[in-house]
Amino acid sequence: MFFNFFTETKVMRYELTEEGERYLKEGLPERRLVEALKKAEDTSVSFLKNKIKDFAIALSWCKKNGWVEIRNGKIHLIKEPERYEIEDALRKVHNKESPDERLLAVLLKRNLVREVGEDVRKKALEQLEKGVKHLTPELIKSGLWRRVKFPEYNIEIIGKRAYPGKRHVISLFIEKIRKIFFDMGFREVEGPLVESSFWNFDALYQPQDHPARDLADTFYMKRPESTSLPERELVERVKKTHENGWETGSTGWGYEWDANIAKSAVMRTHTTAVSARMLGKIKPPVKLFCVGRVFRNETIDYKHLPEFTQIEGIVADERANFRHLLGYLREFYRRLGFEKIRFRPAYFPYTEMSVEPEVYFEERGEWLELGGAGIFRPEVTMPLGIRYPVLAWGLGLERPIMLKLGLNDIRNFYYRNDLEFLRGVKIWL
Ligand code: PHE
Repeated sequence: MFFNFFTETKVMRYELTEEGERYLKEGLPERRLVEALKKAEDTSVSFLKNKIKDFAIALSWCKKNGWVEIRNGKIHLIKEPERYEIEDALRKVHNKESPDERLLAVLLKRNLVREVGEDVRKKALEQLEKGVKHLTPELIKSGLWRRVKFPEYNIEIIGKRAYPGKRHVISLFIEKIRKIFFDMGFREVEGPLVESSFWNFDALYQPQDHPARDLADTFYMKRPESTSLPERELVERVKKTHENGWETGSTGWGYEWDANIAKSAVMRTHTTAVSARMLGKIKPPVKLFCVGRVFRNETIDYKHLPEFTQIEGIVADERANFRHLLGYLREFYRRLGFEKIRFRPAYFPYTEMSVEPEVYFEERGEWLELGGAGIFRPEVTMPLGIRYPVLAWGLGLERPIMLKLGLNDIRNFYYRNDLEFLRGVKIWL
């Protein structure tokens, strides 16, 4: 028995409605009218109306078929049909044969026949019970094969779709990215989601009045109300760098740095905060990466969410230079399957030079920005005790996935919980 018992499969079958059943017994109304016209002495509408059951239906079909005409209140038979094909079709449905499609459509429209689903599995079982599984020499020789029932296998039925458990497309993609960085010799690091302003902004030489720090862009925490700052000397160096450049050769921002602002707790706005924390702890050469959630006070739309994921990386090496940075980025995207990328000059308070990598989006014929990158400024590295170049980048995760999947709305990933979408995502990795 090869039938799949785990799929309940329905196919369409037709059966007569009560009206259809009755017409099959009593004859079609149009046939009864034609018959009556042949015999009756009085063929007036007013007379036949009361004589013939379903008169209105009968008259309308007789007229439609061009069999009768009404003149002076009398019905004239102008052409007697040779066959009543509708009746034939009714009989076929009754006998479980399939009528001509055109006629079936008329029957359905006239409500003489209805569609019913049939459980093919049940039917196959019934047939098996009654029928014969294997054709044997005896059956052939005796000619009995003509009469026994063999189970029918409908090989055209599409099985029920199976939805095995699978990981969310975002975490699949994160796995892929981690693998790429491991393969390129990077070590993975992480940091807290609730971060001090010190590591999220101040250590990155972002002035305390920088617009990105605004409530409109950053989520500030009520609890913890404040965080503790790192060792005094380090904080002192950061403070001086902001105020007058300290020993970095910079003039600084020229304002009075406030430790209380640096203590406030935020939902980290970028994973660059993790890199900042790492800078004080590393010995070159070192290559680190971090994939993590970040939070910004954005209005939700097709390409913005208040939380998304960044892919952060740093390469610290005496000999690292800007070409290396572009090479790492190009290689990373190449391994993700994006060949056509370019770099645009950009600005970040913590890097110089700065670039924004962009990928070419074939479908729209547009370049799409993927994130930011650059070499950390001395104002960032020197207060943390670093005297060599550190390449850094922070890339968006969701955009490349959207490109891969051909999606045009980022909300599909987190907010819609659209099962249809989640089930349909190809696991291409
Ligand atoms: N932190 C930047 C952002 O979130 C990206 C960036 C990271 C830029 C590291 C330069 C260096 O957009």
